[in-house]
Amino acid sequence: MSTIDRTRLATLTAREQAAFAARTPRSAAAYAAAGALFGRVPMTWMNKTAAGYPVYAAGARGARVTDVDGHEYADFCLGDTGAMAGHSPAPVVAAVTRRLAEAGGATTMLPTEDAAAVGAELSRRFGLPLWSFALTATDANRWAIRLLRAVTGRPRILVNSYCYHGSVDESLIVVGPDGRPRSREGNVGAPCDVTLTSRVAEFNDLDGLDRELAHGDVAAVLMEPALTNIGIVLPEPGYLDGVRELTRRHGTFLINDETHTFSAGPGGATAAWGLQPDVVTIGKAIGGGIPIGAYGLSASLAAALTDRPDLDLVDMGGVGGTLAGNPVSLAATRATLEEVLTDAAFPQMIAVAAAFEDGIRKIIERYRLPWSVSRLGARVEYRFAAPAPRTGTESAACADPELEDFLHLYLVNRGILLTPFHNMALMCPQTSTDDVTRHHEIFDAALGELT
Ligand SMILES: Cc1ncc(COP(=O)(O)O)c(C=O)c1O
Repeated sequence: MSTIDRTRLATLTAREQAAFAARTPRSAAAYAAAGALFGRVPMTWMNKTAAGYPVYAAGARGARVTDVDGHEYADFCLGDTGAMAGHSPAPVVAAVTRRLAEAGGATTMLPTEDAAAVGAELSRRFGLPLWSFALTATDANRWAIRLLRAVTGRPRILVNSYCYHGSVDESLIVVGPDGRPRSREGNVGAPCDVTLTSRVAEFNDLDGLDRELAHGDVAAVLMEPALTNIGIVLPEPGYLDGVRELTRRHGTFLINDETHTFSAGPGGATAAWGLQPDVVTIGKAIGGGIPIGAYGLSASLAAALTDRPDLDLVDMGGVGGTLAGNPVSLAATRATLEEVLTDAAFPQMIAVAAAFEDGIRKIIERYRLPWSVSRLGARVEYRFAAPAPRTGTESAACADPELEDFLHLYLVNRGILLTPFHNMALMCPQTSTDDVTRHHEIFDAALGELT
């Protein structure tokens, strides 16, 4: 097995940082001029870059991004799934233009007819009959868990260790090294000790889940059918069936967060694997780049909610936002679902992702690196451990930020964007096998220099 020489890694990273600075003077100037922004960026997480400052985008279309210095990138980040439909897909541009420029009325507090069409299409895909909208997946999760706490009268939410569901307070809990639950690193400004609101179990651990649910105080399990924000941790055979059986046995609702696992197919992992959650939450890609979140409820859950006159679901109900369900978001989402991320679009995206996975695996094997690669439909990620981790905690333990920084920089300097928070590559309808080949040539050269 090859090992990474850390001195060589540091030298190569410094060289790539210098190369980045030399090729991106306008990005550097834009960053320097952004003194009115907290952290110099529109959102502080945009400082997550090995280069010292971000690439400033000039434009993006399909699977391509251009920056303000005139470089073009093959984009495998795709807005960390927000642009899985490709950048500015023509049907979405047309629908948004119709709604915003021709019809007018971006925010009216009145429904538009697109909303019911989107609800019906999400129902067809995910199997849940009744839908409501938010502006982000984070809010869809927040609102779903509030409803489930209300309807069960139970105080806690259970999540998987090292999950990510957005900045949802209840989800920022992990299993600590001593096996006990604790607040996740980075849980800034927590409103209270997260162990008071939440329980946690490892992904792929049914005994742990059973033990935690047996307390009888968990309103809902909020989970991704495959963990996607700590590598891709795939479910072992029988695990998801076991989760459904245990949640039913313990009277706990099950929420599938399909925001990223939507890469598995037109109805996400829920449809691809025949799952039966009580609630599906989703956001990002369904809006074709325009903000939206959505949550779908089972008929029995919806009935249980509406049968409770004490729950204020119309006025100050603890769920909702003034711009949620706005006409622009819904026009964009309708166009994305009906014309871009259609049933017919996925096989091609998944085939390109399979080629990406296959090529990465061969390169890793050729360099005899103890790494693994996982794929969920159109989404691929490699991890610095083999075999592939089977829990979030195992996957977190093999993170290697220095190595990741080097690979990201090496790729960005040669025209390839990966998601800054992962070694994740996502395929949109326009991603080509030529893009994959180009990525692999550069990845191969990076490992050639490193090992
Ligand atoms: C599974 C999952 N759910 C929810 C979210 C939150 O999405 P947003 O940041 O768009 O609210 C994310 C973001 O990465 C996610 O990965």
